[in-house]
Parts: sequence; structure tokens; C-alpha cells
Amino acid sequence: MIELRNVTLKYGEKLILDKVSLTVRNNTIKAVLGPSGVGKSTIIKLMLGLIKPNSGQVLVDGVDITPMKEAELYPIRRKMGIVFQGNALFDSMTISQNFSFFLRENLRLPEEEIERRVMEQIRFAGLEGYEEQLPESLSGGMRKRVAIGRALIFNPGTILFDEPTAGLDPVSSKKILNLIADLRKNSNLGAVFVTHIIDDVFAIADETAVLYQGKIIFDDLTGKLHESDHPFICSILSDKILEL
Ligand SMILES: Nc1ncnc2c1ncn2[C@@H]1O[C@H](COP(=O)(O)OP(=O)(O)O)[C@@H](O)[C@H]1O
Ligand SMILES: [Mg+2]
Repeated sequence: MIELRNVTLKYGEKLILDKVSLTVRNNTIKAVLGPSGVGKSTIIKLMLGLIKPNSGQVLVDGVDITPMKEAELYPIRRKMGIVFQGNALFDSMTISQNFSFFLRENLRLPEEEIERRVMEQIRFAGLEGYEEQLPESLSGGMRKRVAIGRALIFNPGTILFDEPTAGLDPVSSKKILNLIADLRKNSNLGAVFVTHIIDDVFAIADETAVLYQGKIIFDDLTGKLHESDHPFICSILSDKILEL
């Protein structure tokens, strides 16, 4: 479980997040919806402890990570799987090496256990038969699936997605959203994805928070978006804008 409590974040003098509070629960898919440049990637970086808030707390499984030094943050980050917007795959490694690299580097697991975990995620991500290919030979949607499978390899408690469908065609987007929805089968996993695409939210998010001008203006079950009387939310719903 990850929680932002009254988080304020500035870049220089520019206020990006103004006392933002947000909870990502286990067994729940949470969306953070907001226009481009609002601070969505910033929220992901705060959750990973990559940047520190000016004030407020970031709690991971109830522990405030804001005072922690880099070395203390490593085991915290291992509780999280991260799917970056650009995937951050190793271009010179095969798909299966992309999956096994961090396991081999970070955990002293027997080779059979590494192989078992890699195969499990290859299957989950629907990448059987592609194990020996390089990322560049795959489509954008397939590369995203590699990034998702790889993020799951440490059995994280929470998985974080930065704009998981950005730049994908509609069919690939749908497949990625279905894959994220499949995470619910792993009963305790929490997922948070940030997006500017409203369809993503209605497709799979149990709960949605809307970030607008530095503030969370809505945070509830996704279906309740239709009951909101906030002008920004009304406008995006009534105008049927698909992307903010
Ligand atoms: N390291 C940084 N230094 C200064 N400004 C930044 C930095 N990173 C992001 N910004 C600015 O902060 C705002 C929020 O950025 P970001 O979190 O990347 O937005 P989003 O992911 O919602 O598009 C943007 O206006 C961006 O230009
Ligand atoms: Mg971003």
C-alpha cells in the first residue's frame, strides 16, 4: 500500500502539487487522471522516493520514506514494480535476459528459480516464443508487455504505470489494459496508473483520482465520476474528450 499525505512539491518556485493526498490500496487498480504537465510522472517519482516532497509524507506499507537515504530506499523500491512510459528496456538484451537481469543481479536465487520466475512472467505477458528476440524487433504493444512482465518479476506489492497506453494503437492499448486488469487475479497486488486518456480509466480503474491545477479534485470509485459537479470533470465528461 502506498499513500501520499498532504504532499506539496515545487520545482524551483513553481508549485506542482498542492497538499495532495492519495492512497493506492492492495487489490485495487487506481488511476490518476490529469492533463499533460499536471504532475502525474512527478507523483510516480515521489512514490518511488526518486524525489522528495517539500512537505508532507509518502508512506509505503505505513512507513514514511521521505527521510530515507538512497540505501534505505532500495528494499522499499523492491516492493514496487515500475513500468516507465518509455519502457526502459535493455536494448542489447533478449526478452528473457531483460526479465532475468535484475533477479540475477539483486537476489541470490538458484538458477532454476530464476528460470521458473522468468517463464511465469513470460506466460503472463503473453510473450511465449519471443524469449530470444531483442526488444527492437517487437511492436510497441509487445515491448510494453515486456516492461510489465519485468516489473512483476520481484513479486511486488504494488505496480506503478506511467501512461501505459500512451502512443499505442487502439488494439494494442486494449490488450495492455486487459493485461493490467488481469493483475486482479493476483489477489493482493495494488496497481496505480497515471494517464491523460479517459477511456483507460473507465476500462479498468476501480478508483480514480483526478489531478487538476495542483490539486486532487476527485478521488472515489470510477463510476462516481458521473456524479461529480466539478466544472473540469463535467467538461471532460460532457465534451466526451478522450484525451486531456
Ligand atoms: N525536474 C524538473 N524540473 C523542473 N520542472 C519540472 C521537472 N520535471 C517536471 N517539471 C515540470 O513539472 C510539471 C509536471 O511534470 P510531470 O510530472 O512530468 O507532468 P505529467 O507527467 O503530468 O505530464 C511540468 O510542467 C514539467 O514541465
Ligand atoms: Mg508524465
